[in-house]
Amino acid sequence: MQLSFDSQPAGQIDTPALASYVFEKDNRIEGALAAIDQATGGRLKRLAESGELSGKPLEATLVHDPPGLAAERLLLVGAGKPDKFDGAMLRKVAGTALRWLRAKSVTRMTFLLREGERNAAGAEAAAEGLLLASFDSDFYKTEKKNNKAMESVALAGPEGAPVEDLKAGMERGRIIGEAQNFTRTLVNEPSNRLTPRILAERGEAMACECGLGVEVLDEKRIADLKMGALLSVAQGSIEPPRVIVVTYSPARAKPGAPVLGLVGKAVTFDTGGISIKPSEGMEKMKYDMAGGAAMLGTMKALSALKPAVKVVAVIPATENMPGGKAQKPGDVQFAMSGKSIEVLNTDAEGRLILADGITYAKKLGCTHLVDAATLTGAIVVALANINAGVFTNNQEFEERVLASARRAGEKMWPMPLDDEYRDMIKSTIADIQNISGGRGGGASVGAAFLREFTEDTPWVHLDIAGTAWLDEQKPWAAKGPTGVAVRTLVDLAMNL
Ligand code: BES
Ligand code: ZN
Ligand code: ZN
Repeated sequence: MQLSFDSQPAGQIDTPALASYVFEKDNRIEGALAAIDQATGGRLKRLAESGELSGKPLEATLVHDPPGLAAERLLLVGAGKPDKFDGAMLRKVAGTALRWLRAKSVTRMTFLLREGERNAAGAEAAAEGLLLASFDSDFYKTEKKNNKAMESVALAGPEGAPVEDLKAGMERGRIIGEAQNFTRTLVNEPSNRLTPRILAERGEAMACECGLGVEVLDEKRIADLKMGALLSVAQGSIEPPRVIVVTYSPARAKPGAPVLGLVGKAVTFDTGGISIKPSEGMEKMKYDMAGGAAMLGTMKALSALKPAVKVVAVIPATENMPGGKAQKPGDVQFAMSGKSIEVLNTDAEGRLILADGITYAKKLGCTHLVDAATLTGAIVVALANINAGVFTNNQEFEERVLASARRAGEKMWPMPLDDEYRDMIKSTIADIQNISGGRGGGASVGAAFLREFTEDTPWVHLDIAGTAWLDEQKPWAAKGPTGVAVRTLVDLAMNL
């Protein structure tokens, strides 16, 4: 999808569809819409007064052949209460406009930002919303019955708004939106088309295209490095594991500056291993690499946005299969850190591969760590698909990540990680066990296991099991992979 900027006055924009938004209750036909209302001889005001143009969140109203405008159609999307309006809502509004028009076979549109006061941030959010809405999960349909695509979208602002600011914001939104869609593309791939080796190739290709450093560790290097926890998961599959390391290293990074490590879980398919999962819904476990894919998307965006700090992504990638060589409940493994682990449940494999990913990221010199992982079903029970769960060993660093999430419009919520959770993973035979004896607190138990490998390094764990996949389509988004965590992590790196 092409994205461009149109600096003409809204009334003169010659397009199949001009889209904008209206607020609830106060009938505010202000900002850029005032000019349109005037051009149409007060038609918008009348529609608002009659109640037809209600402004209710994401309600769409279409006006054909609007008088006085060069556009063939005018689409107005409800933006809800003006005091609740934020970047997250603007993203949804812009995305809804695109998908609504696309369903009517419209292939070109212009999205008009109303107020000039939030200039760059508004343009960024709108561009993201438009790009994210253009994504669909029907990769392998050979006959696209609804063969409709939005080919080009222009962004426009109110008259007098600073065009350079809007263009800069739009450009950032384009970079981030495309990076998030790159993540979604990887997550959407079925496991037969995205093995650990193929994921490594895709990561390598992206890194080369973007001028990032990249190294892929194969099964031999992984064994030489004694990544016993990762290898224990991989041994059940005939597909060999990989560790993908992508590096962004700015020339201007000062000595002693922080180095951000991004560790992403990439289980390209999680059967559960010998502790096998029920067959119902198992197909969804192709998304168990969403954490790793989020790190690749983040690196793609950072290569263009160029933060001041060094960032290293470490992505352990494997299948979790119950092959003849698979590990069995009760097996004891040695992680790269030297810690021994009793594997009581082979389905708690994400924490095993992340243990070695975290140790390796520290070895590469990372001073701050964030991991993202579809780690537990328990976080889905706690937070559904609304919030990602956030765990930490360092409150200050967690606050920075949460601030980034708020700015990026990604919902994340702090979860507890008291010392007591550590007691729940004491093993009788080894240093720790990979599940607790009891039933409760599964998400915190998983986080407590990871904490054992972070030592003193400030670390934040994002459990994205609930938020990485959308089970139902939304007016602004397709059903399927969401690309969650990319925007938050980009913001974090840009502000570290
Ligand atoms: N990949 C799953 C987490 C998951 C489960 C995501 C359900 C989405 C929906 C992870 O590897 C896993 O299987 N975790 C187990 C841990 C348990 C055995 C302690 C879980 O949550 O059931
Ligand atoms: Zn599992
Ligand atoms: Zn898993």
